[in-house]
Amino acid sequence: MKLEIAVLAGDGIGPEVTKQAQNVLNAIAKEYQHEFKYQSALVGAAAIDDSGDPLPDDTIKIVQNADAVLFGAIGDPKYDNDPSAKVRPEQGLLKLRKILGLYANVRPVQAFKPLLHHSNLKEAVIEGVDFVIYRELTGGIYFGEKKKSEDGKSASDLCEYATYEIARILHPAFKAAMQRNKKLTLVDKANVLETSRLWRSVAKEIAKEYPEVTLEFLFVDNAAMQIILNPKQFDVVVTENMFGDILSDEASVIAGSIGLLASASIGDTSALFEPIHGSYPQATGKNIANPLAAILSAAMLLEHFGLQEEADTVKQAVEKSIEDGVSTPDINKENPKTTVEVGEYIVNYIRGNIICKKSNENIHLGQSTII
Ligand code: IPM
Ligand code: MG
Repeated sequence: MKLEIAVLAGDGIGPEVTKQAQNVLNAIAKEYQHEFKYQSALVGAAAIDDSGDPLPDDTIKIVQNADAVLFGAIGDPKYDNDPSAKVRPEQGLLKLRKILGLYANVRPVQAFKPLLHHSNLKEAVIEGVDFVIYRELTGGIYFGEKKKSEDGKSASDLCEYATYEIARILHPAFKAAMQRNKKLTLVDKANVLETSRLWRSVAKEIAKEYPEVTLEFLFVDNAAMQIILNPKQFDVVVTENMFGDILSDEASVIAGSIGLLASASIGDTSALFEPIHGSYPQATGKNIANPLAAILSAAMLLEHFGLQEEADTVKQAVEKSIEDGVSTPDINKENPKTTVEVGEYIVNYIRGNIICKKSNENIHLGQSTII
């Protein structure tokens, strides 16, 4: 398969972890005879420093012409600490999501067996957890009208949803539930918010098209508690933009580190793949950031294009690295490895594993004389 991939490494640790994800994609391309071409572009604080614009026109052109976007991270403390800044790195990412129409953000949450002891939660609570969050990504309070009064004494952010925006994320969420354990939980605040009540009524209608799926409703405050209390109850969670942002960070505690959570942002014509973590400025340039979320995001990219075996190979290699303790300090304090070492280990495992598989196939075909 030929793919043109736009690489938007962004800020902080973004370039370091994205580089490892790209190396992994290259290893896959080589072993499975695909052709992945990359074009890099600036976004976020790096783009502001360069041109004053967090999403320059050149970048927009590159992403619009690409088959997929590999995204690193965004954000810089110099903007976080300045509430009056007119231009902010995050605007680049939000505009990108809007321009590409990436309305469905898919965030899988899994407990990795070798890391069960590592989570702050009890092993018994998290063992076997495997759910996926479908977060609406181009609407709600993130994109509603923002106002600040002239005297600076009040401000507002409007939360708005149209039925079509709700329906277009609910369908993939229901479909995902069909492929999994047939349970969909809509997280909202329908006891208070009008938009949430709209979500519920649209969900009830659409549920008729998926009679095999059990649809449940959960208030977001309760959901935040349930994710920690009994995360095994979840299969597919669907929710609006801001609730999804908050709950997915919370859910990363189950995996053991936010450096492990990957995501795919899907639209009708574009797709972007990014770790859910931020730019982790304290770690920038130190070669200590966990590249696994970025690498697992690359696996989601492969999956998106139907390259399931390739995606599984990457996931297997990631699991193996964790199992073998080849991990960055966030999940291996005793004997930590660097970002680059973890990436290299995974690349080598992919190569070795495929060589193994190929020779196994040969054995089965009776082509080997070694046994
Ligand atoms: C995320 C991030 C972004 C968001 C920020 C960087 C704008 O937290 O992807 O979860 O809030 O969506
Ligand atoms: Mg977030």
